[in-house]
Amino acid sequence: MNEQAVSHRKATKYPYFEEETSAEVVNARMGKDADPRLRQVMAAIVKHLHAAVKEIEPTHDEWLAAIKFLTDTGHMCTDWRQEFILLSDTLGVSMLVDTINNRRPNGATENTLLGPFYIPDAPIYESGANISLDGKGEPIVVRGTVADTDGKPVAGAKIDVWQANDDGFYDVQQKGVQPDMNLRGLFTADSEGKFWFRSAKPRYYPIPSDGPVGKLLDKMGRHPNRAAHLHMIVTAPGFEPVVTHIFTPDCPYLEEDAVFGVKESLIADFKHVDDPARAREFGFANPFWSVHWDFVLAPAKAGAAERTMFHVSRS
Ligand code: BEZ
Ligand code: FE
Repeated sequence: MNEQAVSHRKATKYPYFEEETSAEVVNARMGKDADPRLRQVMAAIVKHLHAAVKEIEPTHDEWLAAIKFLTDTGHMCTDWRQEFILLSDTLGVSMLVDTINNRRPNGATENTLLGPFYIPDAPIYESGANISLDGKGEPIVVRGTVADTDGKPVAGAKIDVWQANDDGFYDVQQKGVQPDMNLRGLFTADSEGKFWFRSAKPRYYPIPSDGPVGKLLDKMGRHPNRAAHLHMIVTAPGFEPVVTHIFTPDCPYLEEDAVFGVKESLIADFKHVDDPARAREFGFANPFWSVHWDFVLAPAKAGAAERTMFHVSRS
């Protein structure tokens, strides 16, 4: 054996592929100058991927089916459709990443998924506006407050709201069918931290299920339904932004949300109100719904970078 071959052999403890040490063989190839975080991430992914393959022992055909699934998932992605995020959502990974990154003090409002249907630049409304531009569904009045963890009102907090309509679609999924900006609005909390608006009671709806992720859910015996919710992002200078939902307590999918977005603390008390005089005041048919929600904001973490929101682009 020449000298070069000998020194190369000694370069690593795991020079040749063996089933037993396969992950170590792959990870030993990483260069010394690799970025430490990338090294950590790739080492963990290789370790767990090899462990999964060892547990599953896929046939070649099964492995090719897995590759085809990922290829189809990529082909499904457009400016408007992010099938990989949907995959991450339905496997609970989006919620895990969100939960890890939003550990808050007790009492602060919990985060949940942003989802793909958020768009910036919602219409700016005064309190009391009705964001239901298609008039569908059961009317609801939503009242709330925004306070800090000491109970002090956060005047001027922004409350960005969006939801699906009574047919189970967001406006961006039904361009030309729903009015643009249907069921979206940006509100500002008053000097007492209060805000209110009118809308339609949210209903459960299916996540987009006509692609590879929907087919996978079906094969796994899972339904695609999201528990009924209103989306809200609450922001104020000096506080951590809260990206969250308010869930209705009567939804049949509350305990089996397709993307695991439900946290118990986010289930609100939706009241059915039978009061013709009050209905008239709100311009509603009687009966109608009413919900009250108190947001509690945690102080911004020192040095926290401005948060970027991933959303599928509008163009
Ligand atoms: C949503 O709530 O809008 C949503 C979240 C995750 C996947 C699909 C939709
Ligand atoms: Fe949603």
